[in-house]
Amino acid sequence: MPDLFSVTALTMKGKEIMKRFFLFCGIALCGMALSNSALAQKFDGLALTPPMGWNSWNKFGCDVDERMIREIAEAMVASGMRDAGYRYLVIDDCWEGKRDSLGFIHPDPQRFPSGMKALGDFIHSQGLKFGIHSCAGDKTCAGREGARGHEYQDAIAYASWGIDYLKYDWCSTEGLNAVGAYTTMRNALRAAGRPIVFSLCEWGDNKPWEWAKDVGHLWRTTGDITNCFDCEVNHGTWSSWGVMKIVEMRKGIRAFAGPDHWNDPDMLEVGNGMAPGEDRAHFSLWCLMAAPLIAGNDVRAMDKGTAEILFNREVIAIDQDSLGFQGYRHSADDSLEVWVKPLVKDNWAVCFLNRSAKNRSLDFDWTKNTIADEFSDRKIDPEGKQYALRDLWGKRNLGTTRRPLRAEVASHDVLLLMLTKR
Ligand code: GLA
Repeated sequence: MPDLFSVTALTMKGKEIMKRFFLFCGIALCGMALSNSALAQKFDGLALTPPMGWNSWNKFGCDVDERMIREIAEAMVASGMRDAGYRYLVIDDCWEGKRDSLGFIHPDPQRFPSGMKALGDFIHSQGLKFGIHSCAGDKTCAGREGARGHEYQDAIAYASWGIDYLKYDWCSTEGLNAVGAYTTMRNALRAAGRPIVFSLCEWGDNKPWEWAKDVGHLWRTTGDITNCFDCEVNHGTWSSWGVMKIVEMRKGIRAFAGPDHWNDPDMLEVGNGMAPGEDRAHFSLWCLMAAPLIAGNDVRAMDKGTAEILFNREVIAIDQDSLGFQGYRHSADDSLEVWVKPLVKDNWAVCFLNRSAKNRSLDFDWTKNTIADEFSDRKIDPEGKQYALRDLWGKRNLGTTRRPLRAEVASHDVLLLMLTKR
């Protein structure tokens, strides 16, 4: 008689099912108890600088499967992307399949036949971290299984698959309270016991910057980005937004961001079809804003120009500065803007952005343009101190703040400078 039908095997199988059931009940009960106690808190210290990684949505939408994800992981390593700091590989919407009779979620069996644990093991073997998407509602934005009512169970599944990062969406949530829904998932993740970066994605509708510091590590501030410099793409009931539209969307929220709790203006569109100058401007502004740097291009087919933007370590260092101050627009003269960010050691990043359709010439006298930031209590004081200037895209030194800066800034492009105190 085959072993499967022997009494011992049946008993073993029964025991295994009982074990899983009691484990689930135990963790769920423990989770409920924890959620009411002071222990229910986010995992601290997982995002002391803005998270960096890659996400499938901007380029591939619903078209995700395990073969493509494995290829992306390999390309992230081979291209040098991982070593430039991009650690999280996040599968966005559409990985989800059905729930089983106990309510546990499983991946789409056609697209992910080997299962999420095997995929996670592979991603980890590449020195990367594994991220996934879900939704606070019954359904995700693409109509797959959402987590509503299954939060503790889903958190257990994520922990067992080795998930390191959860992006948690906000579709199909009519009547739900955002603070409650996101706090429930935070508590569920905590109860499951695996440290997971928690990325809130409710588009800024409920002002998460005011309440999410203790709930998650980053929160979306706006609707979805799209791959254009300044357009709006109308989808009927909602719109997606070009880079400059996103930049204009939320004002006065920089004081809410800092280490372990970031404003997230959405993922990067670098390499997805904008002009090189526009990609540079987009990337520079995201670094100035201390935004999470989650690339969204096809890493397997990345051209040299895209790699030069995404992997520019001097620019990435602005984003990853350990003080974690979000930069801001210092001035706007017609369509020539000056963006600044205070950095460690009294250094600054200064970015001249040309939003117009024509090239603009720049004549910037540091002694006549005092740059002072009340929030960080810092000031560029060229009378008292000298700063060395370095053009981070041109990779050349440009003298000091002693002399006015004269330069040409191309249309839809930036001149990005690092100011190092001497
Ligand atoms: C929302 C999010 C996007 C993406 C899609 C997936 O629109 O804002 O970033 O996750 O859902 O359906």
